[in-house]
Parts: sequence; C-alpha cells; structure tokens
Amino acid sequence: MKVLGIESTCDETAAAVIDGEQILSNVIASQIDIHKEFGGVFPEIAAREHLRVILPTIKLALVQAKLEGESETFADLARQVEAIAIANRPGLIGGLMIGAMTARTIAETLGIPLVAVDHVYAHIYGVEPSAMRFPLLALVVSGGHTTIYSLKSHTEYEILGETRDDAVGEAFDKAAKILGLPYPGGPSISKAAAAALGAHDVQLLPFPKLDNPYEFSFSGLKTAFLRRAQELAGGDFRMPSEEIADLLSDDQKNQLAYTFQESAVKILLNALEKADQEFSPQQIIISGGVAANGRLRERAGELFGDKLLLPDLSLSTDNAVMIARAALAMGLPKTDPRELRVTPN
Ligand code: KG4
Ligand code: ZN
Repeated sequence: MKVLGIESTCDETAAAVIDGEQILSNVIASQIDIHKEFGGVFPEIAAREHLRVILPTIKLALVQAKLEGESETFADLARQVEAIAIANRPGLIGGLMIGAMTARTIAETLGIPLVAVDHVYAHIYGVEPSAMRFPLLALVVSGGHTTIYSLKSHTEYEILGETRDDAVGEAFDKAAKILGLPYPGGPSISKAAAAALGAHDVQLLPFPKLDNPYEFSFSGLKTAFLRRAQELAGGDFRMPSEEIADLLSDDQKNQLAYTFQESAVKILLNALEKADQEFSPQQIIISGGVAANGRLRERAGELFGDKLLLPDLSLSTDNAVMIARAALAMGLPKTDPRELRVTPN
C-alpha cells in the first residue's frame, strides 16, 4: 500500500512515499537557513517558501520513490499512490493552508483518497508502527507541543497531559537566544552543553509543581533560566535579555546550556516515569524535534531500558514519513477533499 505523506505545518516542506513498512522516499526542504537571521520562524516568509517549493518537493518524492507511471509527469507519478496523507493541524496557518490546498487539489483531480492527520500525534510515527506494542505511552516533544499520550491502539488514544504554556522545544530556542546561540536552539544548546567543562554537579533550575503530574510549564523554566543567566552576567532581573550574551564567557554559556538541558530533561522524564508507574505500558516512545537531543535519549535509555522506542534522528524532527505512516496505521480514514479544514491550534 503506497501512501504519499505531505508536511508543511511549520518551517519544513516535506513529502515522502512509503509502501507498507518501507520508506521509498523522504524529501525535506528545510527553511532553517532562511529563518536563522530572524532567530525564529517568520510566518509570512515560511508561507511564501512553502508555496515556492511544495510542488517540486512532492514531485521529487514521487520520482525518488521510483513509482512507475506511463510517463514522469506529476499526474502519472501521483496516480501510483493509493492515498495522500496531509498534516492539516496544528501549525502555522499559511503553511497549513498551502499544504491542504495542494493535497486536496491532487486528491480531487486524480481521484486519490485523502487522509487528514494531526501533526503532533503523527510525531509518534517517527517510530515504525509494526514495532509498537500496546498499550504504550508516547511523549511528543516539538517546537510547538509537549504532550504525553496513552495509546491502546493506533486509533484509540488519550492525552494524559500537555504544556500549559511554552513547549519544551520553544524553551530550548529561547534559552539559546538568551545565550546568543543560533536558531534552532535545541542543537545549539546541546552542542554548548557538551562543551561544558566539569559541569556535573549543577544546581538544577527550579520548576513548578503542577496539580496534574503530566502537565508542563516551560515558560516557568525559561524565566528561571533568564534569572540564572542575568545573575551570572552580573545583573539582576532588570537586565535586558539581549544584553546578557555579551557579558558571559564561552565557559559560562556552556555551563548555562548544560544546566538548562539537564533541567529540561529532568522535567520531561519525571513526568514520563510517573506515567510509567501508573500505567505500566508495554513501551514508551519519545518523539518530536527535542527527541533528537542526545542527553534526553541517553537518560531515557537508562531509565526505561528495552521499553524505550526512539525514532531515528532524521525522523525525530519534522518529516513526511511520519504523516504517511500515521495515516496508514490508522487504516487510512478518508477525508472528503471538499471538507478538508485546517486548524492552527
Ligand atoms: O518537531 P519539530 O522538528 O518541529 C515542530 O513540530 O515544532 O521540533 C523542532 C524543535 C525546535 O524547538 C528545536 O530547537 C528542537 O526541536 N530540537 C532540539 C534538538 N533538535 C531539534 N531540541 C533539543 N535538542 C536537539 N538536539
Ligand atoms: Zn513537529
């Protein structure tokens, strides 16, 4: 069963073709270099960029999948897939609309079934569905979401808790910005933390205890980080955040990055450990952009051992393989192309 996945919810335009368990192609046109100079995703520019590259990205995914049409026209190639899966929620409105209109047009003109998929839930499918054993717990940690799911099957799941404010990826991005490190912040913090000398006995940042143990508040962590950085830079809470980086040595930045990373990893894994005790799942999945973090992967491995399933690094961050896999695993529930809606939040 060949499925074309399309992803355009944030700053990656991606298309992939899978055939059952096999990945036939996985194309990702990243906009990171474009947004870097703004220190974050610039929504209007992101939308224009999606519009510019979405058709060539899909065509490339079809060509690389070596689908055999009568010719290599877009239509001939696309007709070889049995379904088109599109991430129609949540995300930035521009990218969502461009992805949805593209998928809908292809599906309608060529008569291919369309499946609308939730991007956050689809992150779980960075892991191959046939490797999953239910019941399982999944923590999705991305730039926009921090959510713990409990899954009984591919279609029966509930959200145990999510963030009340910032997502953990967003907190990584903000912490990096305070330290003057480049966007995206996750990899920058991770690199700086790895360079921290002898930082093994750090004082973790304080984080709030919430009533629901599966909820998060990363805005609180960000503020605690800002205070620690202001202190180290010799100021107090009035010091503007954009002045901090210049007042810190590289070593101080590395120490701060290390402290932030340890604190964020601890918050995430505390919640997951609690959920593991309460629900005794067969498996635990951690996915989404922040699941590319080496320290998180390492600590989760120590805590959960064989129970832990992690996606390949390339399928942790945004991609379209996960969109196609999620649609297929759910049994390709059809969406009428004319009824396709997008939901930013
Ligand atoms: O899932 P994703 O690719 O896109 C969204 O759906 O948002 O996640 C992007 C987020 C960014 O906040 C980025 O800083 C973070 O994932 N990220 C990381 C790492 N690589 C990407 N965070 C921590 N460590 C990393 N190595
Ligand atoms: Zn994502």
